[in-house]
Amino acid sequence: MIELSHVKKTFQSGRGQVNAIADVSLSVSGGCFAAIIGKSGSGKSTLLNCMGGLESVDRGEIVCFGMPIHRLAASALSRFQRSRLGFVFQRGNLLSYLTVAENIGLPLTLNGIVGQIRTKRIEALLADIDLQSAAKALPHELSGGETQRVSVARAIAHRPMLLLADEPTASLDTVTGQRIVQLMRDLGKEHGCTIIMATHDREITASADPVIGLKDGKVVREEK
Ligand SMILES: Nc1ncnc2c1ncn2[C@@H]1O[C@H](COP(=O)(O)OP(=O)(O)O)[C@@H](O)[C@H]1O
Ligand SMILES: [Mg+2]
Repeated sequence: MIELSHVKKTFQSGRGQVNAIADVSLSVSGGCFAAIIGKSGSGKSTLLNCMGGLESVDRGEIVCFGMPIHRLAASALSRFQRSRLGFVFQRGNLLSYLTVAENIGLPLTLNGIVGQIRTKRIEALLADIDLQSAAKALPHELSGGETQRVSVARAIAHRPMLLLADEPTASLDTVTGQRIVQLMRDLGKEHGCTIIMATHDREITASADPVIGLKDGKVVREEK
């Protein structure tokens, strides 16, 4: 279970103070595939970054499977991020100088998963994303949809509890985007992972539950 209560985050910018997250309380049960939907600037990225501890919060609490993310010490936070968290970005953010297989294997290496177990897990994930033939390819040789498939495989390789996906389909056409969402759902279910996906595209939230609306840094509706 991920629980946010009265989370607030402001930024100081050239335009003065921006209330990116005004006062957000929400909860997502373990094993869910949740979506946060809102227009550009509504605070989706900030909210996901706060949930993953990539940004600090000004006020409020974020408890993720019993861990108080908002007040973990730096070493505990990086352990959480390395072993319990997976992140899928809008444009994949694969490392350009590593092959597809090496990108997928990176979180395994960081978690001390090596040798045969690592090799077998990479092979299984390449099969899951139907890209066995691209194991040795470099990211620039992939299409947008293939990049995101690799990005999902990398995010889930170390079997995180929580997968955060920030507009993972925004640079894809609708059909390819829906395939990525399905892939995240399938892999999440297989590994018992909770998924929270931010998007501005209502179409791809059809299979998500709950769907949480965000506007001007506030939850505007929660649908079941
Ligand atoms: N690092 C930052 N510095 C200043 N303002 C920021 C920063 N990050 C986000 N913001 C502002 O916070 C608001 C929410 O942004 P963001 O979370 O990126 O929304 P979304 O992901 O929904 O587009 C926007 O007004 C944005 O300009
Ligand atoms: Mg964003």
